[in-house]
Amino acid sequence: MTDSLRVDGGRPLVGEIAVRGAKNFVSKAMVAALLGSTPSVLRNVPEIRDVKVVSSLLTLHGVGVRYDVSTGELTLDTANLRSADAAHIADHAGSSRIPILLCGPLLHRLGEAVIPDLGGCRIGDRPIDFHLEILTKFGATVTQREDGLHLSAPNGLHGIRHEFAFPSVGATEQLLLTAVLAEGVTTLHNAAVEPEIKDLIDTLQKMGAIISVDTDRSITIEGVEQLRGYDHWSLTDRIEAGSWAAAALATRGDIFVKGAQQRHMGMFLNVFRKVGGEFEVTTDGIRFFHPGTDLKPIALQTDVHPGFMTDWQQPMVVALTQARGLSIVHETVYENRFGFTEALEKMGAQVQLYKECLGDKKCRFGQRNFRHSAVISGPTPLRAADIEVPDLRGGFSHLIAALAAEGTSTVSGIGIIDRGYENFRAKLTALGAKVEA
Ligand code: EPZ
Repeated sequence: MTDSLRVDGGRPLVGEIAVRGAKNFVSKAMVAALLGSTPSVLRNVPEIRDVKVVSSLLTLHGVGVRYDVSTGELTLDTANLRSADAAHIADHAGSSRIPILLCGPLLHRLGEAVIPDLGGCRIGDRPIDFHLEILTKFGATVTQREDGLHLSAPNGLHGIRHEFAFPSVGATEQLLLTAVLAEGVTTLHNAAVEPEIKDLIDTLQKMGAIISVDTDRSITIEGVEQLRGYDHWSLTDRIEAGSWAAAALATRGDIFVKGAQQRHMGMFLNVFRKVGGEFEVTTDGIRFFHPGTDLKPIALQTDVHPGFMTDWQQPMVVALTQARGLSIVHETVYENRFGFTEALEKMGAQVQLYKECLGDKKCRFGQRNFRHSAVISGPTPLRAADIEVPDLRGGFSHLIAALAAEGTSTVSGIGIIDRGYENFRAKLTALGAKVEA
């Protein structure tokens, strides 16, 4: 498959596509299977690259992995669990951060775990300090060696009391995956409570864990001695669903997203409506469509759940280039998530980036020189361009821009999009897009 796509844009996307399980839950549920002494079955699993990466990491650790693409059924058998070496883990992990989440389960099951050095930016852009702090507090010993970090737990892992300065998704998952088999009680304050985390908690409960979640973002876990495998149906990927919804808006289209679940997309639907987008919720999914009149500008801030997800920000910004007036977007989760707007400007969009917090949310980046607020002035017709995909969500957003633009664009590096958007080329064709590899 070639790594670029020629997109003949300027046509509305119209039709129906289906979205399966959430990338950001499925990968964690696969890790949770390591904790079970009997096989686990995960259902509604999409055929995306991240599932392949985690499958190969688990296989490396002796897990029997079977995947049926058509039914989406994934079976994971941990009967022959074993350690793997750092170099092999690094080969299989690519740029994935999943190896850090294997640590708690592997420490419980095998007494040791390794995190390879996954590249220079590991402690830079997306640090793992929260993860290491938690693991150490549980009783893990961390040793830095040439090939990466080696962890052991000579005295076992014991429940902790912990509070996050920022409700990190991955670190909350780390804590859950470690606390369930740790001796004693663990309490976490200021936890992330994304729907994907709630689904992980449900999965762990099926395995035999005892976990309660309070309304004030605190989670209590009573450690148990053993866990069994699970049988679980993954929630739908709400990021993918929101991305297609934004594509409907930006291309003046009408897309029925089969599988989209209203209860996990509340804040997205509010914003979609404020911009002027129309939607209809049915039992099978959600129909998203352009109103046929001008879109409206909005002021938007990304946030942890139940706020507007950072992963919806990039596709929505493309739609906002078509709204009449000035929209303001304040990104409060990542310090540097507007790089993709450079390509939009090349295509005719007007986007100004600011270091200041353009919003009332207290944010960690305000005083730190990061261009984390954007002002988008619209509507600006987009014109075709040759663009290079920067990352997963930015990449899909570039694709949306190319679909909305008049003329033929070449979008390169689209392999990244396979990490999280199942079969997106076929879905684009099903929606009437003119794309060619
Ligand atoms: C998860 O990343 C998702 N990835 C991200 O989706 C998503 O954007 C993010 O949560 C927020 O919702 C997966 O689930 C695989 P975080 P995660 O820990 O867990 C800082 C996508 O495109 N931080 O909540 O890595 C960090 O730098 C991806 O699907 C630390 O400072 O996110 C960031 O500013 C991209 N130290 C903030 O916390 C740490 O040790 C949020 O990160 C960990 C995080």
